[in-house]
Amino acid sequence: MELLKKKIVEEGIVLSGQVLKVDAFLNHQIDPLLMLEIGKEFKRRFEGDPITKILTLESSGIAPSVMAGLEMNVPVVFGRKHKSLTLTDDLYVQSVYSYTKQQTNEVTVSRKFLSAEDRVLIIDDFLANGEAALGLANIVKKAGAQVAGIGIVIEKSFQPGADKLREAGYRVESLARIASLDNQKLQFVNEPAAEEDSHVQLV
Ligand code: G4P
Repeated sequence: MELLKKKIVEEGIVLSGQVLKVDAFLNHQIDPLLMLEIGKEFKRRFEGDPITKILTLESSGIAPSVMAGLEMNVPVVFGRKHKSLTLTDDLYVQSVYSYTKQQTNEVTVSRKFLSAEDRVLIIDDFLANGEAALGLANIVKKAGAQVAGIGIVIEKSFQPGADKLREAGYRVESLARIASLDNQKLQFVNEPAAEEDSHVQLV
């Protein structure tokens, strides 16, 4: 998705060989027009698939998911990482370990919002090790529902998640695929290094 790649090149910050900071438009400040275009692109890619629901994880998965839900005319459910005061009904619970943050979250989704009739599109902002997406897919399975596919805004293809998910048989649609962040250079999959250097910040 060219608009997204342009945004990453212009406003992304390569923090290290592993981490890309995109808090100017996705992880902290949010660009609503870009999110709308992302929603349209997910709709285009999953056109014809009878998806009934989108499942994501708080917090950064919510903005692209809501726009996809708007375009596809389906509700959006987000897994919670923190206990909710009012979410007291029966829950699906799934442990999700983050290698990047080295912490485990107990992700919960109310049973009320996922059922065996659902065909679910999982959406997340980043794909690194695949743990979040696999955890969400497990919640879908616990509900007896089907996973239609996994939509990712930014895939770090040099980390194991994408291969892990595809090998597990899931359809993975990533809107931007990053081949490398080495030497403070951002390189997309199958393309030469971006002309315009992303802002470099060494940590
Ligand atoms: P995984 O789900 O693919 O296994 O990824 P991992 O656990 O390694 O990453 C977990 C968290 O780190 C996620 O945020 C993910 O968005 C974020 N993350 C991973 N790689 C990058 C990166 O290169 N840049 C940025 N900006 N974030 C990255 P989270 O804990 O769910 O936080 P949030 O959704 O509340 O923002």
